[in-house]
Amino acid sequence: MTFRAQHLLGIEHLHPLEITTLLDLADKYADENKRGIRHKDVLAGLTQINMFFENSTRTQASFELAGMRLGADVMNMSMQASSIKKGETLIDTALTLNAMHPDLLVVRHPHSGAVDLLAQKVNGAVLNAGDGRHEHPTQALLDALTIRRAKGRLHRLSIAICGDIAHSRVARSNIMLLGKMENRIRLIAPPTLMPTGMNEFGCEVFDSMEEGLKDVDVVMMLRLQKERMDGGFIPSEREYFHRYGLDATKLAYAKPDAIVMHPGPMNRGVEIDGNIADDINRSVIQTQVEMGVAVRMAAMDLLAQNLRARRAEREITA
Ligand code: NCD
Repeated sequence: MTFRAQHLLGIEHLHPLEITTLLDLADKYADENKRGIRHKDVLAGLTQINMFFENSTRTQASFELAGMRLGADVMNMSMQASSIKKGETLIDTALTLNAMHPDLLVVRHPHSGAVDLLAQKVNGAVLNAGDGRHEHPTQALLDALTIRRAKGRLHRLSIAICGDIAHSRVARSNIMLLGKMENRIRLIAPPTLMPTGMNEFGCEVFDSMEEGLKDVDVVMMLRLQKERMDGGFIPSEREYFHRYGLDATKLAYAKPDAIVMHPGPMNRGVEIDGNIADDINRSVIQTQVEMGVAVRMAAMDLLAQNLRARRAEREITA
């Protein structure tokens, strides 16, 4: 068994072998999903609770679908913005939930670190579906699977991550994952949206798309995360698109077979030209969504195996 984690809180603590194990299983699920093969036995008898304290379309839907495909009892708690409170309230929520004995708890929260905190308070396996600007591990894993399937490998690729890096948990998780798998990472952003110290992570830093995109294999675009900005980070969206929006002219600097990615939701005409997003010869944005279901199936399958093993061990020693 090469996947030992008890929770999936981030990429940071995953070993490259754990990443490969998860991606191999997700690869199998992706093929079988396409062929209509179902696996209702994998999570049968287990309860999955999805708790989203922040809006989500793709992530929540794919976690829900993944759980149902594997036969879990899936429940969505609707967490309205008004119920978002810090500190004790979050812990109280966790304790209440824990009393319902969820086996898998999928959590998205606007505060970095909130999901880790919650994981300390519950007995089941916790999956981070995005916490503040900290981590979004299943997004990085589905991006990795998409890249691996499109390029035939997940190492020694030159990958550009472009846009609002400062506010992006997707960027953080991807930088860690792609770095662990020994790729060359180029970060492209206006200075106001580039965190300091990124060179220490082994990334090359650019503030021009023309320079940064030169000969890359993968172009990953990010949304301007306005909900996490306090103040003006860009002069205007029009100006931003002109300098940092991905269009055919800028994409021409990348390798001729470079793929275009975006985690969604997309703002067409701000960070990406709609024609590029829809170009089936370059854009793998729909494949990312498809891989999202498979990756979440694999993550919950592996965590449930570890959960069952721990429980069995406890029964033997009890
Ligand atoms: C991302 C997120 O929520 O961090 N979206 C997603 O999960 N597909 C990126 C974003 O919101 O821009």
